[in-house]
Amino acid sequence: MNSPVAQRFIERVESRTAVIGIVGLGYVGIPLALAALRKGIKVIGFDIDQKRVDDLNAGKCAIKHIPMDLIVEGVRNGHFVATADFDRMSEPDALLIAVPTPLTKHREPDLSYVVKTTEAIAKRLRKDQLIVLESTTYPGTTDEVMRPILEKVTGLKSGEEFFLAFSPEREDPGNPDFGTSTIPKVVGGDGADALAMSVALYSALVVTAVPVSSTATAEAVKLTENIFRAVNIALVNELKVVYEAMGIDVWEVIDAAKTKPFGFMPFYPGPGLGGHCIPIDPFYLTWKAREYDIATRFIELAGEINSRMPYRVVNRLAELLDTQVRKNLSDARILILGIAYKKNIDDMRESPALKLIELIEKRGAHVAFHDPFIPIIPPTREHAELTGRKSVGIGAESLAGFDAVLIATDHDDVDYGTIVTHSKLVIDTRNACARNGVMAANVFKA
Ligand SMILES: NC(=O)c1ccc[n+]([C@@H]2O[C@H](COP(=O)([O-])OP(=O)(O)OC[C@H]3O[C@@H](n4cnc5c(N)ncnc54)[C@H](O)[C@@H]3O)[C@@H](O)[C@H]2O)c1
Repeated sequence: MNSPVAQRFIERVESRTAVIGIVGLGYVGIPLALAALRKGIKVIGFDIDQKRVDDLNAGKCAIKHIPMDLIVEGVRNGHFVATADFDRMSEPDALLIAVPTPLTKHREPDLSYVVKTTEAIAKRLRKDQLIVLESTTYPGTTDEVMRPILEKVTGLKSGEEFFLAFSPEREDPGNPDFGTSTIPKVVGGDGADALAMSVALYSALVVTAVPVSSTATAEAVKLTENIFRAVNIALVNELKVVYEAMGIDVWEVIDAAKTKPFGFMPFYPGPGLGGHCIPIDPFYLTWKAREYDIATRFIELAGEINSRMPYRVVNRLAELLDTQVRKNLSDARILILGIAYKKNIDDMRESPALKLIELIEKRGAHVAFHDPFIPIIPPTREHAELTGRKSVGIGAESLAGFDAVLIATDHDDVDYGTIVTHSKLVIDTRNACARNGVMAANVFKA
């Protein structure tokens, strides 16, 4: 039985009179805003980045794959506004938080964005509001970090005077088959009312809300999903090395194995892990596990294997340059194709291509890159020195000027036939040439 407060909230969601606030308008926050607007729910978006706020209100977005028509319409009809004025945080019925959760330089959880956001909310919290953390984090964050701040600053009690929940984001940027609205959302609440309110909210926004027993369980679900990916990618990366030594093509093996209708799920090798999730999130659990004197050896091992991959690719590049074009890596000209962390998106956070550029340049080679999604390298935390470098063209003449082309990310919008025809040597870490039917004697998988 819901309390009258929870019941009123649920009715406001069902009648579409509820307003939601989204804090952090990035890769997760903007699609979430779109999912709400699509269902006729008004959104106030909050961000500390004034330029991002101004751009959104002008119908522009720095993230290429996100369609802006609903935002433009929302700004026009008053259903959407972006703001850096946090005093407006008391207006929405619910505040959903999607701010970054990176690692510190000592590879420990950096909760500073979550803490700052919680403090900002606490100063303006209105009685009966629902606060939901969506940022990926270790089990216990909502209960041990957020709840004490909110209760201390406001003097209000979670579960009675305001409501707190965790619902992990499962965004897969660039995925043509699944978007925010069509992916089920796991929800854990601090108490029965918080759970009922967040299930009602997410049932209105996405295809299904999946309730779990606590916020910590919901936090663990997200980490489990990403650790599952990290470990399986490490496994195929290891298999690639073994099979390569045996003259067996790992991609052919995986394609055949996946015809098994049960008990196998394909994962693919690559030049290393990238993105904001898989290289980072597993270490949130590793860190928290230490509090319980437990070592997460599987996770550490996967991290070790995956982080060795760029080094392996560069060694293979050097070896192939030597044997195929009689060139030392130290005086070679290398073109890296695709520097986004995965295909068909413009996000390059933690991209292994950046590590490849760093490692190849350290060996003395000249490196250029081509990426149809990234004309200029934006500032990144780990490779600030690469900021401002520009994507080069890949016409026949330009390709002939390189000793090798290294395919790091296999965007669809690239003519792989031209690459193979006009390059001396192609090293393919994604099986792109075979998949596009353009394998040739100068193409080597790595
Ligand atoms: N990108 C993905 O595909 C993805 C998928 C699943 C989960 N996640 C998780 O979602 C969370 C957000 O990731 P993202 O990729 O959207 O990040 P992002 O960097 O694209 O966006 C975060 C936004 O938050 C804003 N911000 C930072 N501090 C703020 C503050 N104190 N108040 C208000 N706004 C603030 C930033 O200006 C930025 O616009 C992270 O925890 C991430 O791990 C991301």
